[in-house]
Amino acid sequence: MKKRILITSALPYANGYIHLGHLAGAYLPADIFVRYLRLKGEEVLYICGSDEHGVAITIAADKEKVKPQDIIDKYHYANKEAFEKFGMTFDNYSRTSIAEHHETAKEFFKDFLEKDLLTEKEEEQFYDEKAKMFLPDRYVEGICPNCGSDKARGDQCDSCGAYYDQLELKNPVSLVSGEKPIVRKTTHWYMRFDKLQEFLEEYIEGHSNDWKDNVLQQTRSWLKQGLNERAITRDLDWGVKINDISGIPKEKAEGKALYVWFEAVLGYISATKEYFKLRKASVDEWKKWWKDEGTRYIAFIGKDNIVFHTLIFPAMLHAKNDGYILPDNVPANEFLNLEGRKISKSRNWSIDLKDFLTDFPEENYVDTLRYTLAMNFPETKDADFTWKDFQARNNNELSAIYGNFVNRTLQFLQKNFDGKIPDLSEKYIDVKNQWMKYVTGNKSLEVNEVLSENDKLILESLSNGIEKISHYYDIFRFRDALTETMNVARAANKYFNDEEPWKTLKSEPERCAKTLFVCCQLVRTLAVLFAPVTPYTSKKIFAMLGINSGTGESNEIRNTEFLNASFPELQSGQRFNTPEILFKRIEDEVVEKQIAKLGDMEEQKAEETQLITIDDFAKIKLRTAKIIEAEKVKKSKKLIKLIVDLGDEQRQILAGIAEYYEPEYLIGKTVVVVANLQPAKLMGLESHGMMLAASKDGKLCFLTPEKDDVGVGAEVR
Ligand code: 2FM
Ligand code: ZN
Repeated sequence: MKKRILITSALPYANGYIHLGHLAGAYLPADIFVRYLRLKGEEVLYICGSDEHGVAITIAADKEKVKPQDIIDKYHYANKEAFEKFGMTFDNYSRTSIAEHHETAKEFFKDFLEKDLLTEKEEEQFYDEKAKMFLPDRYVEGICPNCGSDKARGDQCDSCGAYYDQLELKNPVSLVSGEKPIVRKTTHWYMRFDKLQEFLEEYIEGHSNDWKDNVLQQTRSWLKQGLNERAITRDLDWGVKINDISGIPKEKAEGKALYVWFEAVLGYISATKEYFKLRKASVDEWKKWWKDEGTRYIAFIGKDNIVFHTLIFPAMLHAKNDGYILPDNVPANEFLNLEGRKISKSRNWSIDLKDFLTDFPEENYVDTLRYTLAMNFPETKDADFTWKDFQARNNNELSAIYGNFVNRTLQFLQKNFDGKIPDLSEKYIDVKNQWMKYVTGNKSLEVNEVLSENDKLILESLSNGIEKISHYYDIFRFRDALTETMNVARAANKYFNDEEPWKTLKSEPERCAKTLFVCCQLVRTLAVLFAPVTPYTSKKIFAMLGINSGTGESNEIRNTEFLNASFPELQSGQRFNTPEILFKRIEDEVVEKQIAKLGDMEEQKAEETQLITIDDFAKIKLRTAKIIEAEKVKKSKKLIKLIVDLGDEQRQILAGIAEYYEPEYLIGKTVVVVANLQPAKLMGLESHGMMLAASKDGKLCFLTPEKDDVGVGAEVR
């Protein structure tokens, strides 16, 4: 059994606002897990922070026309605040621009240099002569050497997914100046990951039974291809500079920074160092968390970060040969989609946390969002967030099941028991004892004078439920853990219904008191079990119950609430505070408004259906026709009524061209019409076909054959 558990969430780039997809990938699962562990009394340290280096930052700075420092300050603080409001309970939310981080990263680099794990190599790379800089991969665009797409990036093509060397890109263009880059030589340091292949294979196979399939699969496929040496420096003026490292000549190191991935993963270590420094702990305190076999380390990430945490980071920790522990698990999530589509900021198909908070400032909505996301975590495959589901989860589950049980119990007590936990009569005084015996080991219950069939059922649901919930949390199946949690709330409601206290209040008042005594205990139990996912609601319930109980926050005095969740801990006679509604209903208009805010559905659909097949086009029958009559439609500014001759028939067509043409001008002209369009009525007149016209910027002209040769009725293709 490990003594302590270290948890990290991927350090998000401080180049944009955190959105729902981020939250569901690497942050909320970790926070739920951390709260669960803390509520079990585990010693936990939860670390995160902003990733503030690399091209991701410089590109964002260029875009916003500010300095990288302005970008990282803006997003670091904004994201830190949004995380807090969403109840993330990091022990430290640090940033990679702190001095400790630069020191730590350089220490690793220097160490690998000394251990001959780095090779210095001169390579050719694109150089922008106008901007006077080497171009990192994301700063060049060109034609993909594999599929010919003209929007391929420096090292990767988004169209076909191919990876290639920057210099293979055809027709390269610098995104900085728009100029064609030249090829110039530059020196970089390459890490010999090939030397670590064997170690990594053993490490990964050692986890073949406890890691998630998606994580193992991606990692194994990298290992199968064989690890190569990888450049761990870049020509970049922003990041951890290496020009003051002894062992490499200054002029060679000038203008170079560590590759962001090499140093970002080390950010977890520097953030831990910073945490203890801020707490004025001894200088070696952080080592307890990184260099002690008694620590279990779990790294939460999204799927695009897998190999950096399963291969690169472990390789670095191992190669340092300094007692560092390795990730014991990397429970990466897949992607979260939004309303059936990939999240995309540029298409406005995204929900930033800060925007959610503006529209839903009350904490109960934060809980609803946490709950909805957790029920849809992309644990094994991509998942979808929809506003309708958000509404349904709130109204039909949180409000109708959990909230309803708490509310009906407390309302009933207020009305009939003076707002206190009922006293148990002589007959039922043993309920607590029998309950405790059952949940602490002696799992056999008999229905007797004290315990009814319903009591027995609810205690069984409770005990089995909590066992399952813990088991699912322990194996990172959070959706299942939460489903089981809601099932306990369902069982509690069933208990209330089956006991019918509104009837026994008169017919068997002692039993009614016992029923409500049990219900009160269940209210506390539910608040504890739900605390990792909906902590704000649990806090409210604890306040209503007038008890002090934690929700797994970082500064709470450690307790073991989760382990004792099934105990009947509330005392008879204890008074409640006024009950309040926990989850307000969410109406249709509210979610409809949110859906309408997303992108432009029609535009996106149109974009997606842009390409048609030749067969699609063949469905449209275009033919030439001669206009034989034309007159304005009365009371219409736009319409002209045309009679056209298609050779074998005459047709009436209404055309919206009155603002551009006089009817007289049209007579005798040969035009192109859609001949197989369903007839329609406009202003009470039938239109059978459509005349083609080109329009742009308020101008319009009809299409006509270049020569009259083909006559009327000719097919246009
Ligand atoms: O994908 C990202 O947002 C990266 N900034 C994650 C880094 S995780 C770790 F290396 F810090
Ligand atoms: Zn391609």
